[in-house]
Amino acid sequence: MVLMGVDARCLSLFLLCTITSHSLEIKVNPPQDFEILDPGLLGYLYLQWKPPVIIENFKECPLEYELKYRNVGNDSWKTIITRNLIYKDGFDLNKGIEGKIRTRMSEQCANGSEVQSAWTEASYWILNEGSMETKIQDMNCIYYNWQYLVCSWKPGKTVHPDTTYTLFFWHEDLDHALQCVHYLQDNEKNVGCKLSNLETLDYKDFFICVNGSSKLGPIRSSYMVFQLQNIVKPLPPEFLHIGVENSIEIIMKWNAPGGPIPPRCYTYEVVVQEDYISWEFATDENDMKLKKRSNESGELCFLVRSKVNKYCADDGIWSEWSEEECWEGHAEPDSKIIFIIPVCIFFIFLLILLCLVEKDGPEPTLSFHVDINNEV
Ligand SMILES: *[C@@H]1O[C@H](CO)[C@@H](O)[C@H](O)[C@H]1NC(C)=O
Ligand SMILES: *[C@@H]1O[C@H](CO)[C@@H](O)[C@H](O)[C@H]1NC(C)=O
Ligand SMILES: *[C@@H]1O[C@H](CO)[C@@H](O)[C@H](O)[C@H]1NC(C)=O
Repeated sequence: MVLMGVDARCLSLFLLCTITSHSLEIKVNPPQDFEILDPGLLGYLYLQWKPPVIIENFKECPLEYELKYRNVGNDSWKTIITRNLIYKDGFDLNKGIEGKIRTRMSEQCANGSEVQSAWTEASYWILNEGSMETKIQDMNCIYYNWQYLVCSWKPGKTVHPDTTYTLFFWHEDLDHALQCVHYLQDNEKNVGCKLSNLETLDYKDFFICVNGSSKLGPIRSSYMVFQLQNIVKPLPPEFLHIGVENSIEIIMKWNAPGGPIPPRCYTYEVVVQEDYISWEFATDENDMKLKKRSNESGELCFLVRSKVNKYCADDGIWSEWSEEECWEGHAEPDSKIIFIIPVCIFFIFLLILLCLVEKDGPEPTLSFHVDINNEV
């Protein structure tokens, strides 16, 4: 019993020794000089590092880097596995940015088990000059009909009247940030900017900074990053038509608004009004059939608005409502036609008959008169 106990202890000690010596042997260092670099592209940052110091035995081993990063305050990290020494991505510069990275050695090199280094960290905050009260408010950007971008804002809460705001933008087709050319103005102050010819930039990050200057001191900059397809506000649908079939079925049709947005990219919201009661419906088609709620309804109206659907963008803005289109009910148009057609045929027939009679008409009429005269 005692002997066996000793054996077991020896064995476990032996195992422990081999495991520790094994893991001591295979050790890898974190990357060196990890840093987050701002090239002045309004939120597009470079995360870069240098290879770790490597022990002689492992010079031949392929190394991988596991990079994690996020805007300060976000719950989740983005994770990237790469063999490169740089990674670029877009960030919201209103907040700080933090990142961490470690080296990973592949299984072949580490005799079957993957080996990782400790993490090394870096963070970045843009230099925030000026008080929060000088920063623009209610910044809002809309990409109208997937054609032109309008960004608008209100001045900061407490700013000197001499303050001038300026908008800069950057996307990956530009070497450096550019200033807005077409400012929207209110009382000769910049309160917005219109940008067009952005066709090739869908599904790419678009960066904006509104900063400013004043004699009294620095103005706090405001940053935005978005993708154009996610802030599209389309035009309202056109050519609405409403009719009733079989006295009970309401048929509604409309056309996708004109412009560059493919028809398959729309979703619609339809409001139908039947004698002061209205219902809402959603559809991706551009027609719709509904049962009437009542036989007696006097008036049916509907209107539609459009938005880019989830197959073409992650988000969107509803268009304005279309013009209202109505169908006047009560007298059933179908039964009316059924009634009118025989009546029309009858009258046409009668007219032809009268014409024929009229041809040899004058004489009999005359004789009729004569007759009357004779009688009197
Ligand atoms: C891996 O195992 C082989 C033989 O199985 C051995 O020669 C080699 O030194 C081991 N490498 C490391 C890094 O432990
Ligand atoms: C505003 O930002 C742009 C782009 O980063 C920069 O070139 C410009 O000097 C800034 N203007 C002010 C007044 O800070
Ligand atoms: C509505 O019309 C249908 C078919 O024409 C008829 O069966 C039904 O009784 C009508 N309902 C009312 C409330 O008039």
